[in-house]
Amino acid sequence: MLEEFKMLPLDLEHIEDILIIENLSFPIPWSREAWIQEIRSNKLARYIMILDKNRAIAYGGMWLILDEAHITNIAVHPDYRGKGIGKKLMQGLIDTAKREGIMQMSLEVRKSNTIAIHLYESFGFRVEGMRKEFYLDNHEDALIMWRRE
Ligand SMILES: CC(C)(COP(=O)(O)OP(=O)(O)OC[C@H]1O[C@@H](n2cnc3c(N)ncnc32)[C@H](O)[C@@H]1OP(=O)(O)O)[C@@H](O)C(=O)NCCC(=O)NCCS
Repeated sequence: MLEEFKMLPLDLEHIEDILIIENLSFPIPWSREAWIQEIRSNKLARYIMILDKNRAIAYGGMWLILDEAHITNIAVHPDYRGKGIGKKLMQGLIDTAKREGIMQMSLEVRKSNTIAIHLYESFGFRVEGMRKEFYLDNHEDALIMWRRE
């Protein structure tokens, strides 16, 4: 079933789909302007999306900074969660970073986000630090996770 979902670089044509998922997934969603700027102008950014027919149902991205890929976001439309799409995205991000010679990845995740933490752990990410009260909406701590090869 997963094979029928194509994975492609994220483009502006799918921005409406991305904004819907972003707003359903995050307490502090990125704005339309932030997304447009990110896709058009951020040379360090790499974003991928997963399509069901021509609709984007998931996306993930990162900033490539020297020898590190910092994952900025990863989200799956609520109707499509729990089907392995998050794993497919994560593998896509790892493969994209490796193609550019980058073998270490980092990210921040809310301490309470056990589903995402499980996903990251299953790809070899480990907690290496914490940012106290990192999130502005509820002052929740962020775990800093790293994956190194
Ligand atoms: C986190 C998220 C991307 C996972 O995507 P998904 O497509 O549902 O995940 P998958 O179906 O590929 O599952 C991957 C792993 O996640 C974990 N997982 C998925 N659903 C879970 C659940 N209900 N309970 C516990 N763990 C779960 C498991 O470890 C699973 O691996 P397994 O099936 O081998 O046990 C998705 O839940 C999401 O978009 N959440 C909102 C946005 C978000 O929190 N993003 C992360 C910000 S840091």
